[in-house]
Amino acid sequence: MSADPSITVLISGRGSNLIALHEKAAGYRIGAVVSNRPDAPGLEWAAKQGIQTISVEREASPTLALHKQAILEAVAATKPALVVLAGFMLILQPDFVHAFPGKLLNIHPSLLPKYPGLDTHARALEAGDTEHGASVHFVGTGLDSGPLIAQAAVPVLPKDDPSSLAARTLEVEHKIYPWVVRHVAQGGIQLEGEGVVYSGGVRSEASRLGFRIAQ
Ligand code: GRF
Repeated sequence: MSADPSITVLISGRGSNLIALHEKAAGYRIGAVVSNRPDAPGLEWAAKQGIQTISVEREASPTLALHKQAILEAVAATKPALVVLAGFMLILQPDFVHAFPGKLLNIHPSLLPKYPGLDTHARALEAGDTEHGASVHFVGTGLDSGPLIAQAAVPVLPKDDPSSLAARTLEVEHKIYPWVVRHVAQGGIQLEGEGVVYSGGVRSEASRLGFRIAQ
């Protein structure tokens, strides 16, 4: 039997999605974790698990463009089957996006196309939304853009504040992201042009798990 495909996870912060991806890894394995922040708590956690960690510091490059280029080179050197953004707080340049066609994923804490960018929970509350959630998508060149793969919704409750809503959303992030990564790694979810194609098995699992996918 051949080894599971190796994914590289990019983080900038605490890494709770990274931890969920590791704990629920099936059909893939985390080969490396790359961060643009040497002090990212998720990087220390990964090192303790014995996962290869790479920190690409901003100070090492004279310009932001070269910094992003250095990150691209570091990620490419890990030869990933998939590149998985998990709280990675740099907007990637088109070069990066084009280097991993159909292999670059992001999770965003809103029901896209609602609320790309920051402060998604506060924005959903301000808008009076009755549901909120998380989206996993193939990465395009715009902010939180690209073909949508799957969404998990949560209710917005009357007493919610941004942090309670963030916590409820994070719980579903930790379920949907490992699920999507497994199926992209195993070929049950594929990018074809600008569209996403799902196997029959993935469709029925999504419906059983309550994840929304394109019809
Ligand atoms: C998550 O809410 C994710 O959706 C967003 O950034 C946050 C990262 O959290 N892209 P963590 O570092 O995975 O805990």
